[in-house]
Amino acid sequence: MAKDLVQKPYDPEEFRELGHKLIDQLSLYMAEAQRGEGPVLPFTPPSEMLDFWKGFLHSDSREILFAETLKQTTRVHHPRYMGHQVAPPLPLGALMALLGASLNNGMAVYEMGMAPTAMERVVTDWLCRKLGYGTSSRGILTSGGSLANLTALLTARRNKAPGDIWNNGQQGKLAILVSEAAHYCVDRAARIMGLGEAGVLKVPVQEDFSMDTSKLPGMYEAARQKGLSPFAIVGSAPCTATGSYDNLEAIADFAKEKDLWFHVDGAHGGPAVLSEKFGHLVKGIAQADSVVIDGHKMMGMPVITTALLYREGALSYTTFSQEADYLLTDTPEEDWYNGAKRTFECTKLTSSLSWYAVLSHYGETIFEDYLNRQYELARTFADLIRKRPHWELACEPQSNIVCFRYTPPGADATTCNQVNGLMRQRLLEEGRYYIVQTRLKGLLYLRTSLMSPFTTSGDLKELMRYLEELTPTPTPKR
Ligand SMILES: Cc1ncc(COP(=O)(O)O)c(C=O)c1O
Repeated sequence: MAKDLVQKPYDPEEFRELGHKLIDQLSLYMAEAQRGEGPVLPFTPPSEMLDFWKGFLHSDSREILFAETLKQTTRVHHPRYMGHQVAPPLPLGALMALLGASLNNGMAVYEMGMAPTAMERVVTDWLCRKLGYGTSSRGILTSGGSLANLTALLTARRNKAPGDIWNNGQQGKLAILVSEAAHYCVDRAARIMGLGEAGVLKVPVQEDFSMDTSKLPGMYEAARQKGLSPFAIVGSAPCTATGSYDNLEAIADFAKEKDLWFHVDGAHGGPAVLSEKFGHLVKGIAQADSVVIDGHKMMGMPVITTALLYREGALSYTTFSQEADYLLTDTPEEDWYNGAKRTFECTKLTSSLSWYAVLSHYGETIFEDYLNRQYELARTFADLIRKRPHWELACEPQSNIVCFRYTPPGADATTCNQVNGLMRQRLLEEGRYYIVQTRLKGLLYLRTSLMSPFTTSGDLKELMRYLEELTPTPTPKR
């Protein structure tokens, strides 16, 4: 019996049968979701959801388990999915993730992921070339933009901060410069590194929510006078809330002048380097010391996979190295194939399988076409919003993220916030559309990330019509 329980689950024939059933259900799900059938988000309050799955634990049917999971999911393929920045994964990429999960080669050392390691090198070399980096560049894949940003900042500190902090611990007061609109993970990374609140110098943004680079010299000097040593500056390409790109050329110039590490958080919109039409948004990126690009955002990969790319690849080996002679410690050559030397993870996902398969099967044009389509759709949506009375945009969309709000005639800021908040709550509970919200300069905006390649301008017109139908009456002030 014990043997049965240990070995039986590996039965290849059972796997084949069950696998076919799962793929059949998934394919049906995808067809329905892509056609816009069913709710985008069958919203269930967390406690109800918890009760359901507690109760389900003793069910023995794996087919029902598949079906229930599919039923209770947020449908990212759906044309009316416009919420967070997660891609509907390309099915080939998802199949490769299944392949990787079935093989469980853990990547930490070369022998535990030979093919995925070589594929990772091919994919990251390709991305480096697209950034405009030279042959001494190198990249790695890691688990998410948050971890990749932290890793890049650790490399930055190792190479630009005074002293040997990795071995001797924090000494002086260090700081980084980053736009106030940057993703929160940059702030979090700095705090993890012991910089504290004072060590995150938040640069104000302009009207369009991009970094106001004119403030950099003054902020830098003020920090120095307070005894802080800034060692890195982070540009957002783009920032999360509004999708606005920082002026990377201006930041690069400033970084050069002050000898700072220049890091670009291109988790969302770094792939603009692949677009002839939108490449101008990331002008200057080739001068960055490091760049982060999420695969699971604008590159159609299944979660979670991020490329962290270094202009000077040798520096990527310094991040976690105790030794000054980091590169040649164990081998007489660069051992790019022992990935764990440069990543936080020891065991990690073989996500390179997905990148490689998509790149080799469809070619790089698929990424450009997808980005162009979604970015253009955002501009069409902005035109639609602009034409409607009582609606306003937070700023012109630069990527596929659009923030907008309803401003009923005569309503003050508090009432507007209330009305927009209620609309978004209604949408969430009804599940017909999935959009999110964000607060910008104290004002609440509805926020869409146009991620699904099945969303059309018709869906966006319909969203506006639906929102207008929903416009709630604000509670009168007492
Ligand atoms: C600009 C930016 N950086 C970093 C992140 C965090 O990436 P991840 O969710 O892959 O950790 C996000 C997520 O939305 C982002 O928009």
